[in-house]
Amino acid sequence: MSQATANLELDDIQSGVLRPRPAPYVATYIALRIDDRKAGRELMDRVSKVVTSAANPNSPLADTWVSVALTYQGFKALGVPQESLDSFSWEFRQGMAARAKELGDVGESSPENWEEPLGSRDVHVVIVAVSPNEERLEGALANARKTYQSMKGIQAIWRQNCHALPNEKEPFGYRDGISHPAIEGSGIPGSNPQEKPLKAGEFVLGYPDEIGGIQKTQPELLGRNGTYVVFRKLHQRVAEFRRYLKANSTDLNDEELLAAKMMGRWRSGAPLALCPFHDDPELGADPQRNNNFLFQEDDAAGLKTPGGSHIRRTNPRDAAIAGVARIHRMIRRGTAYGPLLPDGVLDDDGAERGLMFAFVGANIGRQFEFVQSEWINDGIFFGAGADKDPIVGSTEGKGYFTVPRKPVRRRCQGIPQFVVTRGGEYCFMPGLRALRWLADLQT
Ligand code: HEM
Repeated sequence: MSQATANLELDDIQSGVLRPRPAPYVATYIALRIDDRKAGRELMDRVSKVVTSAANPNSPLADTWVSVALTYQGFKALGVPQESLDSFSWEFRQGMAARAKELGDVGESSPENWEEPLGSRDVHVVIVAVSPNEERLEGALANARKTYQSMKGIQAIWRQNCHALPNEKEPFGYRDGISHPAIEGSGIPGSNPQEKPLKAGEFVLGYPDEIGGIQKTQPELLGRNGTYVVFRKLHQRVAEFRRYLKANSTDLNDEELLAAKMMGRWRSGAPLALCPFHDDPELGADPQRNNNFLFQEDDAAGLKTPGGSHIRRTNPRDAAIAGVARIHRMIRRGTAYGPLLPDGVLDDDGAERGLMFAFVGANIGRQFEFVQSEWINDGIFFGAGADKDPIVGSTEGKGYFTVPRKPVRRRCQGIPQFVVTRGGEYCFMPGLRALRWLADLQT
């Protein structure tokens, strides 16, 4: 065991914090409301026995887990003292709905249009179960259900089932779940061998972070080994995305090239950085190679991977940008919901489909909110004015996207909004000792 591993208290950190989700996967999200403080504390006691820790990351059984997170309203419903509440981050205390303007959740994505009860004061606890298959998920869910079912004072108020689409793809058809950071002491390798592992304090409270700070709550035990988790239900307009690609390309090959330029990867997952002219599905599926690249030395001008593409915006790696990329990294888990839109279909079938997006990190403000507002919904950081992310940006139908090219760049205009926010929550995922501390509250 390395010194770094010894220092991170993996047996107190919830599995759901550090582990990349299994592939393939099934997942269920359940939101609970606490109507009675005592019942809420009993719930904390019970879930502390069901939640698995991040210890033994290499065990084959470690890819099924139940994790539990609380909103600020949830902490309040449990009667957490004010002094403790005040020691959590400002953004968390506000909640996601209150941050709508900063996040670009406007128009159709604005909280008044969100799916109920997301964004309301009723969502207190979010339980997530993840597994490689239905059978083991059912087992995990049965355990989770025992913690709240038939308990007076706890209501299950929302549920979302998610499942992997074929070939690890998300609803637009791109392979997902490729890039994740390495974290010092986690025992879980990152996917880019060229990225120096990030300090554990970027992802778990109570440890030094990249800028030398250590986040502590009051009492310290409550936050230690916990982290912030952001859940967002993101509806994807797949038919509209396909129609836009078709209408703005000369032929099928050009359509795939435009799709790749927007993402920074071919739909197979193969990165433009390593195969800029044609797809290479073998490379796309190879975890040893598909994330092994940087941008600056080889492609400063974005002739291969445009500065405005989704992956270069959300992780500019070593590219010259205003600011430092390392302090805006995140652990990210997308799980798909809804039926697949069959290949080639260009008309919307009215079905709800998209991603349950989950962010994990110790700083909602400088990680999730910063990436969402400065990198996805603005382009100033890399010199592209107000251009937004062509795939997930809040374009409101007026998006622009530039593909650097010689002799002349390609400029796409009038990009519709392909992703609409259906709701979400800012949560805190406590360590196991902290769950027991919550169970023992006497206020
Ligand atoms: C429905 C909405 C979204 C879709 C369809 C989507 C899709 C994808 C895909 C296909 C990848 C490439 C696969 C990979 O690197 O694992 C990716 C990477 C990524 N996405 Fe998204 N994404 C969405 C929303 C978001 C949001 C809201 C954020 C951040 C606030 C985000 C942040 C990232 C990051 C950080 C990466 C990894 C970039 C890298 O390290 O190269 N994504 N996304």
